[in-house]
Amino acid sequence: MASGRLGWPTDEAPTGDPAGPVSMTPLTTEAVDGDERLTAHLDDSPSVSVDDPELARLRELLRIAGDDLRSRDDEPVRVISLANQKGGVGKTSTAVNLAMALRLLGHRVLVVDMDPQGNATTAFDIDHDPGTPSVYDVLVNGKPLRDVVQETQWSGLAVVPATVDLAGAEVELVSELGREARLRNALQQYLHECEQSGPRYDFVFVDCPPSLGLLTVNALTAVTEVLVPLQCEYYALEGLGQLLSSVNLVKEHLNPQLRVSGVLLTMFDGRTKLAPQVVADAREHLPELVLDTLVPRSVRVSEAPSHGQTVLTYDPRSSGAQAYLAVAREFREKGLSTGVPQSQ
Ligand SMILES: Nc1ncnc2c1ncn2[C@@H]1O[C@H](COP(=O)(O)OP(=O)(O)OP(=O)(O)O)[C@@H](O)[C@H]1O
Ligand SMILES: [Mg+2]
Repeated sequence: MASGRLGWPTDEAPTGDPAGPVSMTPLTTEAVDGDERLTAHLDDSPSVSVDDPELARLRELLRIAGDDLRSRDDEPVRVISLANQKGGVGKTSTAVNLAMALRLLGHRVLVVDMDPQGNATTAFDIDHDPGTPSVYDVLVNGKPLRDVVQETQWSGLAVVPATVDLAGAEVELVSELGREARLRNALQQYLHECEQSGPRYDFVFVDCPPSLGLLTVNALTAVTEVLVPLQCEYYALEGLGQLLSSVNLVKEHLNPQLRVSGVLLTMFDGRTKLAPQVVADAREHLPELVLDTLVPRSVRVSEAPSHGQTVLTYDPRSSGAQAYLAVAREFREKGLSTGVPQSQ
């Protein structure tokens, strides 16, 4: 396995993994086989020490029923949007894999799919046929979020699905008052209900489409943090200025609590000369924001969604899975939570 300059393996054997992908076994007491394989994979990992208390917790989590999840106790929920108007930079991969990694680390997580492509929905093997109760009904018909939330096969990890219906929402909402705050209002109400009667979430991720239209504005209005995935390629930083101006506009007019809490470099390929250069540039220009952990280009990350899985469950030993676990650990230590923004 080649090793990138910055420490992450840059590739994995494309075929012939002796253990093969882990089956779609939920984390329940019955799931002993799947759990043991997952644990064994993690034991093999050079990036996780066997003495790591996180790993011990993870092992335990994998053996017990999901009800024993560790929560962030009294800390407020963190609500984060994955945004970048550039397409294909890793927004959805980061939303679903970071969510699953945090789930494995014991947190309760909700993923809100705000992209009509519905990629985050399908990554969790959740139906996204037109007409499925989805975020569209919340934005356009005022349906409570609770009525459309779906538990994934992994307890403690839930999704608000998106369907292609969402593509029409921008037009349907154009003359509606308060159209930018539809998601925020729904999320505020739902998270308040969750505080009262459960389930209580630790993290909410909102996956944005590749545009700066009304859906992204709704997402940015509903969160207090933005995590920006940047693909390690030429032009990576181009367009970032436009995104940051949009974030500032939303901050100024709709959501003063909004801030960029991190930039995650994705699809790093240390075999190229360009990728380390992009990393250096990003760190030079955004020294406070760029996360230390890089997500390497990993075949398994791109394969996992076609099996209705995250890379963590599809092949936990892969460099992509290990990277997202490391991102989860780093990300949860960074940034202060301020919950859902208050209405203006
Ligand atoms: N670390 C990675 N290694 C290899 N492939 C990756 C990695 N991350 C993402 N991909 C692949 O790159 C493509 C784009 O990723 P993803 O869908 O996450 O980006 P996106 O920003 O959400 O795209 P869009 O703007 O269309 O919503 C997908 O095919 C995905 O499987
Ligand atoms: Mg996407």
